[in-house]
Amino acid sequence: QTGYVTLDRGYKNTGATQSAITFLDGEEGILRYRGYSIEDLAAKASFLEVAYLLIYGELPTKSQFDQFENAIRHHTIVNEDMRKIFEGFPVNAHPMGVLSSLVSAMSAFYPDSYDERAEDKTDLHIIRLLAKLPTIATWSFKKSQGHPVNYPKNTLNYTANFLHMMFALPVAEYQVDPVVAEALNVLLILHADHEQNCSTSTVRLVGSSRANIYSSISAGINALWGPLHGGANQEVIEMLEDIKADGGDVSKYIDMAKNAKQTGFRLFGFGHRVYKNFDPRAKIIKKAADDVLAKLGVNDPVLDIAKGLEEAALNDEYFVQRKLYPNVDFYSGIIYRALGIPTNMFTVMFAIGRLPGWIAQWKEMREQKEPIGRPRQIYTGPTLREFVSIEQR
Ligand code: SDX
Repeated sequence: QTGYVTLDRGYKNTGATQSAITFLDGEEGILRYRGYSIEDLAAKASFLEVAYLLIYGELPTKSQFDQFENAIRHHTIVNEDMRKIFEGFPVNAHPMGVLSSLVSAMSAFYPDSYDERAEDKTDLHIIRLLAKLPTIATWSFKKSQGHPVNYPKNTLNYTANFLHMMFALPVAEYQVDPVVAEALNVLLILHADHEQNCSTSTVRLVGSSRANIYSSISAGINALWGPLHGGANQEVIEMLEDIKADGGDVSKYIDMAKNAKQTGFRLFGFGHRVYKNFDPRAKIIKKAADDVLAKLGVNDPVLDIAKGLEEAALNDEYFVQRKLYPNVDFYSGIIYRALGIPTNMFTVMFAIGRLPGWIAQWKEMREQKEPIGRPRQIYTGPTLREFVSIEQR
């Protein structure tokens, strides 16, 4: 049976598809969405412009953007019955589990999403996902605070609306701080797509069976939750807090990571399957962390610990030899925290950013009429054997 199957655990050397969406060069540390560099987009574009670019292939004209933004604005309200599903969760439910459940539940409210005859409705489901994910995402935070949820405001743009729904309270008018909104805009752009990563491959695989877009995106949210993937941004802050509580001595953690086989410990936020050089997103986020914390007057001791850890790792043979550099998750949590976002919402922020990428990749997979994903295996179980009745066992 091994005649025609090549085993490639973790698909380290398998190209699963052809795609025109995102280009990565792991050796050079290059990331481009539809040919535009991530450095250019992070500095000059809005997140919704980047979402349009990823999904439809071109930067929108002014009228295309206005139409896209207005369509999203008019779908940000979530069916009140979704709140009844949400109210069933315990207050300490992890926001990622809540998010994936509610996104999956959206298919129940939009049955034409799994009606093969309604293929033309895909654009409407895309608008609904982009519009409602931020609204749903903020519910967990408000419940954890014992505060009432906020309805979206159509006078605000995408990022300002998210911040309003997160932090506004009935007692006072919430003013969106432009520094916070701009930092969020950059972070969402940097997370928007990343070719065939674990969660995107999950979205494609689920969608390849012609499962509806809500079920496919919900599967992607679940894959992203894993601590080796998007969940790493929460793990990084918890690791940095441990180092701080432990006196701030990073060398002990470097040693634990180098003895991973014995300690089972990994430096979260380090290493990458593709980048064997600096993750270009980590470079931008590291610089943004200094800028944003300075502008907000926030002094977070874990930022210095993070820099110390990076410095120590980049000068240690174990990491240099394995080409382990800080990845997108290493500094992002430090900015999220400075924006007032709690640690257990960090991976939800990653999901909000990655949503347009998942959508773009799902759409491309469908348009390219990719076959259903069904890999083979190398069988290692027992050869044929006779059944033995339970009396004889
Ligand atoms: C994301 O794919 C994407 O594009 C993902 C992402 C995206 O935008 O979608 O970029 C987002 O998920 C970023 C990665 C976030 N995860 C973490 O920060 C968790 C810590 N990192 C590792 O678990 C690891 O680096 C992975 C999962 C990111 C990559 O794993 P690989 O490619 O399978 O590499 P590996 O586990 O085979 O490691 C190679 C070697 C091993 O040592 P040896 O067996 O050769 O002795 O490097 C070691 C590993 O033990 N190693 C680490 C390490 N990462 C790898 N050692 C210490 N600390 C680490 N972080």
